[in-house]
Amino acid sequence: TKLDHIRNFSIVAHIDHGKSTLADRLIQACGAIEARDMKEQILDSMDIERERGITIKAQTVRLSYTAKDGKTYQLNLMDTPGHVDFAYEVSRSLAACEGSLLVVDASQGVEAQTLANVYHALDAGHEVVPVLNKIDLPAAEPERIKQQIEDVIGLDTTDAVMISAKTGLGIGDVLEALVTRLPAPEGDESAPLQALLVDSWYDPYLGVIILVRIKHGVLKKGQKIRMMATGIAYQVDSVGYFTPKIVQCNELKPGEMGFFTAAIKAVADTKVGDTVTDDKKPAETPLPGFKPSVPVVWCGLFPIDAADYEDLRDSLAKLRLNDASFQYEPETSAALGFGFRCGFLGLLHLEIIQERLEREFNLDLITTAPSVVYRVHLTNGEMHELHNPADMPDPARIDHMEEPWIKATIMVPDEYLGPVLTLCTDRRGQQIDLTYAGQRAMAVYKLPLNEVVFDFYDRLKSISRGYASFDYEVDSYAESDLVKVSILVNAEPVDALSFVVHKANAESRGRGICQRLKELIPRQMFQIAIQAAIGGRIVARESISALRKDVTAKCYGGDATRKKKLLEKQKEGKKRMRQFGKVEIPQSAFLAALKMG
Ligand code: GTP
Repeated sequence: TKLDHIRNFSIVAHIDHGKSTLADRLIQACGAIEARDMKEQILDSMDIERERGITIKAQTVRLSYTAKDGKTYQLNLMDTPGHVDFAYEVSRSLAACEGSLLVVDASQGVEAQTLANVYHALDAGHEVVPVLNKIDLPAAEPERIKQQIEDVIGLDTTDAVMISAKTGLGIGDVLEALVTRLPAPEGDESAPLQALLVDSWYDPYLGVIILVRIKHGVLKKGQKIRMMATGIAYQVDSVGYFTPKIVQCNELKPGEMGFFTAAIKAVADTKVGDTVTDDKKPAETPLPGFKPSVPVVWCGLFPIDAADYEDLRDSLAKLRLNDASFQYEPETSAALGFGFRCGFLGLLHLEIIQERLEREFNLDLITTAPSVVYRVHLTNGEMHELHNPADMPDPARIDHMEEPWIKATIMVPDEYLGPVLTLCTDRRGQQIDLTYAGQRAMAVYKLPLNEVVFDFYDRLKSISRGYASFDYEVDSYAESDLVKVSILVNAEPVDALSFVVHKANAESRGRGICQRLKELIPRQMFQIAIQAAIGGRIVARESISALRKDVTAKCYGGDATRKKKLLEKQKEGKKRMRQFGKVEIPQSAFLAALKMG
């Protein structure tokens, strides 16, 4: 049966095109929240999300809208993250809806993540309504951008909605479009319960909260339910939805989205994509799930003060409670002591976790250079996944190695295309496609992921003056001629600085890192030699001459406050140093080591 009074939708957009602003406007227009209660961007609930203006965790909001046809509709808005690292969370949110609003900034046009996200939505079978935002801007060119959407994406834009999420212009049209253009969900109330587990997180008051989309049947308070993948049964304690405030109710019916709690101990006990069914009257088959997200980028996290190890372990466990895509395992480094090897969905995910550990949990950390997961095939036929270059087996035992490749889509204005193509080629990229839409080029490349974690974003942004946009998906593994480069400081290998790289680039990367370390490691009382080696062969060498470090020397004794400030800075910096042998290596060296200047 059609559930004509419900519409489930998400908003897909490139970062900064106004998704959160539009979501807030819709919430406000439906009267779910008083204007004075509007904090900037309601849906981005975590502090870091708000500060960085990015959406990480998918959230859902139920709105009540009385349309021009006089009927009152239940609109369920699923928020989706906009950043490439979280593509997996996008697809699972989309699986819970029937339609999407495609928001495109009318002054910017289609960007790489517009494309990636709209294709996810079309793959999920969504009806997509194009929405041109920011038409209040003098630079807005809605007609040109409409044409671009037709040319690049192939979506009919005749009925595209023109809005300004900032001023509120056109918000009513968006609401009408949702009701008239998106399909109503379908579902059978009398069938056995089938609910899609969309997300779960830990709430300090309510415990583990499970976000679901009911496909068939009814989910009631007090019901005994079973998770089909894990087979574990629970008693439902409470049922409700968000407006975005929490509202408790007695049941959720087909087509609806909401949450339940059931005395579940850990988020890890809930599997996103799983089907929730009735324990006594279970459904015969689960709903189609999603592929689990796997960390593709790994790095070491070490406490600067060894006494913080236990705190770090507890903090990681807490973060993991709410982020099943984040993984960690203990790691010991000769250079850095006891720490953890941590796996992330991408570089942004890494930065976010690192920042939260330092800020929320007040930990001083050393982060080692990120590495991808290599597959090492040994001569004895075994295969190992290598998360840490320091664990690379003796080359004599290795038959061959494989590295992960990605398929990247880059959109860039014509005038910057040349340098972008050069960058892709330098990074061992293989061109798949190159097309134009107006003044913008769209290049599709296959690239080794390890070349992308080498500061690819930063380079891309700087050579295109910030105009290029980038999106990728992990593609496949391929055999590759890889070697491990070790970095030696005063003849001692610093395990945390070693890295795996394609043989053809090993020497130049090794040299680059030695040069970088020369700038980053402060001069000390003795000479320091920095070397890069492949096996026993030294491929690069730099030295830092001995000098007494005196940051106040250039102040000519005059300005006492400036002197004091510098000394404080130095003390602060010192906290972030790592004594290695006799040499102090600053934190920045570990992360910057792999960034080519
Ligand atoms: P993420 O949450 O990072 O995915 O970004 P987003 O797509 O949600 O963008 P957001 O809503 O945060 O908007 C980005 C910027 O554009 C903010 O500074 C908004 O104030 C601004 N903005 C959004 N809509 C409009 C609009 O209609 N007109 C103008 N002039 N600015 C807008």
